[in-house]
Amino acid sequence: MPRGGRSLLRPFTTVSRCILSFNMPTTDTGVDKTLSTLGITTAEQVAARFAELRAHFDVRFKTVRDESEWKIVRDAWQGRKSGVLTLITENWLKPASAELKRAVGQELNKLKTYVESALEERRLDVESQAQSATAAKERVDLSLPGVIRPVGSHHLIRQVFQEIEDIFFSIGFSVVEGPEIETPYYNFEALNIPEHHPVRDDMDTFYLDVPKGAPGPLLLRTHTSPVQIHTMERREPPVRVIVPGKVYRRDNPDATHSFMFHQIEGLAVDTDITFCDFTGTIDYFVKQFFGEGVKTRFRPSYFPFTEPSVEFDASCVFCGGSGTAKGGGTCGKCKGAGWIELFGAGMVDPAVYGFVNYDPAKVSGFAFGIGIDRLAMLKYGIDDIQVFFQNDVRFLRQFP
Ligand code: FA5
Repeated sequence: MPRGGRSLLRPFTTVSRCILSFNMPTTDTGVDKTLSTLGITTAEQVAARFAELRAHFDVRFKTVRDESEWKIVRDAWQGRKSGVLTLITENWLKPASAELKRAVGQELNKLKTYVESALEERRLDVESQAQSATAAKERVDLSLPGVIRPVGSHHLIRQVFQEIEDIFFSIGFSVVEGPEIETPYYNFEALNIPEHHPVRDDMDTFYLDVPKGAPGPLLLRTHTSPVQIHTMERREPPVRVIVPGKVYRRDNPDATHSFMFHQIEGLAVDTDITFCDFTGTIDYFVKQFFGEGVKTRFRPSYFPFTEPSVEFDASCVFCGGSGTAKGGGTCGKCKGAGWIELFGAGMVDPAVYGFVNYDPAKVSGFAFGIGIDRLAMLKYGIDDIQVFFQNDVRFLRQFP
């Protein structure tokens, strides 16, 4: 009970009276009284009362403008418990004398029909009015500017992968991929790098914590070369594949080193592949990637899984191979050498074929491993490898 002791809930009849009186005071029309209380004794008086009621209805009904007002009038007149028509039935018809009952019944029916058809007719109007109002609210204005959603673009490394893949597709290579978590067998031994071989020191890497009793150690691959072995295990020659992917080494980050970087491995093995095919393929790739003006050369190098092994250089793309910077002085990129080291490669060492059941007397081939990040740096003049991994949109937007 609220302060003052008055209930907030008023009796139902009082509430319904309020609604009714808002539309039409019942006392005006006398529908809350019996006919005898109102002093009505003849059929003519009955007809006059009903005419008054209809006039009341018309006056109120004229003011209905929308659905909610229409509902108020409907409930006031057709409400089952205390609508005007119900009150007439209860207060006028039921207690009417035998002489008046017929007249009241007829007039009540006429009034009911009148009220019903008027309400029904207006219902259609207010409904369609409400629909048009909703439609107007929800209308799509096609002349308004749309919501512009920014569209991202491929990272420069992905773009370079794509560029290199397209070049090798054009000469018959296909793409294969391999796992980033490897066993030492695939990462080292099958590539002719036995345990305790000094080359392993250069590829110091991340070993995984494997559960006790697991078959053996696992590591994050240090290069894409293990996929050479997976591919040759699965396919008979001829093989012509490139292998894009991520690799990992415990290298401290600096301008040219990252602990995670990207490589593309290449492998071609067939019955008659020569050193000449090898250098011709690499030369074609470098010219397609850097432009026709670029020259290539190779120098002897060493990888346990290629023999002979080479390091490929390209004439410096910044100074055109002259060693002199455009504004004079020594070219800072090639340090005056006129050449830039690109990647390692070589003819597949026959010892590797022994691990994949290829006959070294029948097949020969070449392999290469390109560090994509450094290649992209060279081509696009980027002087710090770390920008590839910092996700700074000011950098990324320069390569849409
Ligand atoms: C290899 O990884 C050999 N597997 C390549 C190979 C394949 C030789 C097939 C012969 C036949 P290397 O360790 O030199 O080689 O790495 C290849 C390239 O990866 C390098 O030329 C360099 O561009 C890139 N690279 C190496 N370490 C890093 C690093 N920490 N961060 C970024 N790039 C690196």
